[in-house]
Amino acid sequence: MKSKLAALVCAALVCGLATAPAPVHGAPLSLDPAVEKRIDALLLKMTLDEKVGQLHQLAKPDPLPLDLVRQGRIGSLLNVTDAVEAGAVLEAARKSRLGIPVILGYDVIHGYRTAFPIPLGEAASFDPALAERSSEIAAREAAAVGIHWTFAPMVDIARDARWGRVMEGAGEDPFLGAAFAAARVRGFRKGGLAACAKHYVAYGAAEGGRDYNAVDMSEATLRDVYLPPFKAALDAGAETFMSAFNTIGGVPATANRHTLTEILKGEWAFKGFVVSDWNSVGELVPHGVAADLAEATKKAILAGVDMDMEGKAYSAHLAKLVKDGVVPAKTLDDAVRRVLRIKMQLGLFEKPAPDPKAAAAAMLTPEHRQAAREVARESIVLLKNDQNLLPAPSSIESLAVIGPLADSGEDQIGFWSAQGKGSEATTVLAAIRARAGARVQVTYAKGCDVKGTDKSGFAEAVAAAQGADGTLVVLGESQDMSGEAASRASLDLPGVQLQLLDAVVATGKPVGVVVMSGRPLVLGPVAARVPVLLQAFFPGTEGGPALADVLFGDVNPSGRLPVSLPRSVGQVPLYYSQRPTGRPASAEKWSSKYIDERNDALYPFGFGLSYTTFAYSGLEVSAPTMPVSGSVEVRVKVKNTGSREGKDVVQLYVRDLVASRSRPLRELKGFRKIALAAGEEQTVAFTLKAQDLGFHDDAGKYLVEPGAFQVFVGGSSTADLKGGFEVTSR
Ligand code: NOJ
Repeated sequence: MKSKLAALVCAALVCGLATAPAPVHGAPLSLDPAVEKRIDALLLKMTLDEKVGQLHQLAKPDPLPLDLVRQGRIGSLLNVTDAVEAGAVLEAARKSRLGIPVILGYDVIHGYRTAFPIPLGEAASFDPALAERSSEIAAREAAAVGIHWTFAPMVDIARDARWGRVMEGAGEDPFLGAAFAAARVRGFRKGGLAACAKHYVAYGAAEGGRDYNAVDMSEATLRDVYLPPFKAALDAGAETFMSAFNTIGGVPATANRHTLTEILKGEWAFKGFVVSDWNSVGELVPHGVAADLAEATKKAILAGVDMDMEGKAYSAHLAKLVKDGVVPAKTLDDAVRRVLRIKMQLGLFEKPAPDPKAAAAAMLTPEHRQAAREVARESIVLLKNDQNLLPAPSSIESLAVIGPLADSGEDQIGFWSAQGKGSEATTVLAAIRARAGARVQVTYAKGCDVKGTDKSGFAEAVAAAQGADGTLVVLGESQDMSGEAASRASLDLPGVQLQLLDAVVATGKPVGVVVMSGRPLVLGPVAARVPVLLQAFFPGTEGGPALADVLFGDVNPSGRLPVSLPRSVGQVPLYYSQRPTGRPASAEKWSSKYIDERNDALYPFGFGLSYTTFAYSGLEVSAPTMPVSGSVEVRVKVKNTGSREGKDVVQLYVRDLVASRSRPLRELKGFRKIALAAGEEQTVAFTLKAQDLGFHDDAGKYLVEPGAFQVFVGGSSTADLKGGFEVTSR
């Protein structure tokens, strides 16, 4: 009886009937001895081809490759987005010799069917809890159709607005980026998807902002700026990492043993698996580091890439490389173990087939739409509001809504919008009509396209503006102008949009502009023409109502820029945390500046206006000194000095005045979004640990050096309220 029971338990373990451990959100993955034992048992049974199969990821072909799945030749599929198809894959995998499930991945970046603001927009909320919520909802919708894994969050630091993928991340700053990376990972996991921190690493620093281009950077910058959001994702429990397309100092990220094995799997003890980016294993050949696909396979797996996305390199060459002893069997086993570990930890062996009806019912629910509206409201940044023209006065009787993005659901939901549909978005025009009601007459004229030279719609737009009390012009980029493979050499408004604005402004009527874009644009020419300017990024399915909430004053805007907005494209890469130079810009000719442009941003990182005003005072640091193992508290009073409630983002910046290497002029080390009633004052306290104020040397060693530090607190990266403290060696 006893041995029968033992046999049953053992069979259950091997066949995968054991219950998966409950996932822990917000903690790094850990090893579960029961799971490891189960993997040991499976590995003993697997053939070489079955092992290689686990590392082979294919984009969904038509028809589904169910035979290959039944043969155990496919470990993962991407782009299956239909519950019936997901069920068929699951069924086929169960019929394979060992019944190992196929993990289904998809780019669930800022929503699945309900599109939330693009990640750059969400970062403008400076409220990671909102990104956690939107990621959770996105995951719930995707998981309902049987998707297991999102290729998100994208946590690349982006300081070059020419790079189209700026839209996918949290902007230019590692501290903000780390907070959003962790929040997104937590949210995706809560909603039932495995997360993937991408693109590992330094992809955002592509030379010239040109996608897929080379990167060269010091080990110190890699660790100080580009790695922290990845570490935060790992600490929050990211199950997978994606190796990037770029080279780093000549070594492709997908063949980079230093970043993948030494740092990620070694120093950081990452227990999940690394998937390549789309054919980035194959691209080792055009990179010029592998003569053919076999050599590319060898380099990638030895560097630490566990799964080959759509490269068909591992499936073609890995078995032979192992047979020939070129790739050690234990390297293969380690990669397979990592993949099986995640499949087991996700409970894929036990997961039932998705229910197509339940999946349909999970999409775009009223609750999800409401959440999308709430997140979008917080992501809108008010850049200019002369004479407090906004919120729109209740006396307004007619409004002209103009511009190519005013009624474009497709653009509004942004790039990488998964299964989001433009037709399901509530556009700005529709939302303004609904909010304005019968009392306010709303006229609409598109005026022109985003791109192109056609001005034939100008006359209608001018007539609409002429006949209205106020005019709102919605301009910017189309959604396909940012995202992957959408680098731009110009950051100007495309097409004839600025001319359209000129024609409308010439009517002499008050004009406000909303900019939708996936990147920071050069907005000086727009700001110079109009008294009201808002940056909405791509605000998603409910971006229209969110904008109407802000324009009519139902909601007080509270977004802050997660990226510096440049004056000219020639300033990029532009970011607030620049290092000092030996010759700070001054009237002196021989100083660090342009002869034809200022150095600073048009609108700085962290900046955003409100319909009320805030005043900062009483900055206090709890102690004048702290040891390298200690901490201080920085306190500041923030008062709402206006006449209505509002939210401010209290930001704390630090400068290390003298160190063994030149340190940035300012670095964000704390932020908090607070709500204050009119006239209310709050004291906000931040704890600063000396251990968080260090930096890396060329050997990658983290140093916290004693010495004097300055702190700045306020409502943007140009905050001028300052204090200081000293870090002492003991
Ligand atoms: C290529 C992109 O770089 C990556 O971000 C994405 O996840 C994959 N394609 C899969 O679609």
